[in-house]
Amino acid sequence: MITEKVKNGINGLIKIPGDKSISHRSVIIPSISNGICEISNILKSDDVLRTINAFKEMGIEIKEEKEKVIIYGNGLTSLRKPSKELYLGNSGTSARLLTGLLSSQNFDCILTGDKSLSSRPMKRITDPLTKMGAQIKTNGGKLPLNIKGINLQNSKINIEIPSAQIKSGLLLAALNTEGKSYINEQHITRNHTEIMLETFGADIETKKKGSSSEIIINGKKNLTPQNIDVPSDLSSSAFFIVAGLINKNSNMTLKNININPTRNGLLIALDKMGANIKILNQKIRAGEVVADINVKSSELSGCELDKDIAKLMIDEYPILSIAASQAISPSHFKGLDELRVKESDRLELIHHNLQKCGCYSEISNNNLFIDPSKNKEIINPEIRTDFDHRIAMSFAVLGSKIGKLNINESDSISTSFPNFKDEFNKAGGNLI
Ligand code: S3P
Repeated sequence: MITEKVKNGINGLIKIPGDKSISHRSVIIPSISNGICEISNILKSDDVLRTINAFKEMGIEIKEEKEKVIIYGNGLTSLRKPSKELYLGNSGTSARLLTGLLSSQNFDCILTGDKSLSSRPMKRITDPLTKMGAQIKTNGGKLPLNIKGINLQNSKINIEIPSAQIKSGLLLAALNTEGKSYINEQHITRNHTEIMLETFGADIETKKKGSSSEIIINGKKNLTPQNIDVPSDLSSSAFFIVAGLINKNSNMTLKNININPTRNGLLIALDKMGANIKILNQKIRAGEVVADINVKSSELSGCELDKDIAKLMIDEYPILSIAASQAISPSHFKGLDELRVKESDRLELIHHNLQKCGCYSEISNNNLFIDPSKNKEIINPEIRTDFDHRIAMSFAVLGSKIGKLNINESDSISTSFPNFKDEFNKAGGNLI
């Protein structure tokens, strides 16, 4: 993909697709509920299609219509042994959540993925599951995973790594485990699984203790089917929000965006930077907080973010770094260790590509420092994405401000936002 400068800002009413995290859960939880669920505004991206296909392979009837999917759930133990390995493509969420769910089923199966997913750490989910009695063979802590489904023991598990994928995998394992399991997360992360399980009538309770939480789940309870209207994705909105802020003459509105407080760090950070963003029409949809977001061009200052906010916005650092590179003062983002184990080493790629674009950044101890006063002009650089969708979209946004960039392997964008290019160009962008 080649980028060109935007001429008259990013404007209009932007159509943002359904939330990726909630879409995965909107396939998994209905599939093990006791009845029919209609899911609207579900994200039809490569990652979510991997989850849908996995459940089809395990015997769940899923009808895909244009704007929605209909899932015929048959209960907690209705999944069947797939006839082949479950291939999960690039999707870390599918891999971690299914590992938990399948470890307490009554069949064996094998999970595989693409090159990037096969290089990502899986011990973070298999180790705590092993404490519950799970029997999972890894390939040196990575995929393929060989899962032997058995009855697990309800347990008390502490999660030290801040990860909603680990927590959700454990909750799904506990759901089919007799008795009460206690899952303690040291750092609160996105709580979409807890919200949805509660909506489906699971016996689940969350006790917040400062910045940590204890989730108590009493397993083997049937889930009551529900229809879900998936809110639109803040992580996908982020590319438009920053494009609107850094380009002059922008005024846009994004409708029905999920602003769940365990996920809204980007809005807090941009507020600190002086962004002109208004949150309108706040309401609850599928148990989640949604709102419309109005964004106008703004002169941004830099900001300092400590490691605690990283849990509330881990996927947004690539695009926030683009905003920081166009601000009028330096930014310092701390505690970005987890960025190194995403679809790519995002910390390294942010730094590498900012430098290619003439934007000044430094990494030390997994902290990122960006100083726009040292930016210089570089003509037509190549952007390395390592097939990472969020790196590709972030630098597409930078290109809308500074001009021509050559973004390699941009097909990866279909992982989370298949219509990104069309929507961006409709709003005034110039992506070729
Ligand atoms: C996700 C959790 C986050 C996030 C990922 C989606 C989820 O990963 O980066 O894009 O849906 O639970 P971690 O749990 O590894 O932080």
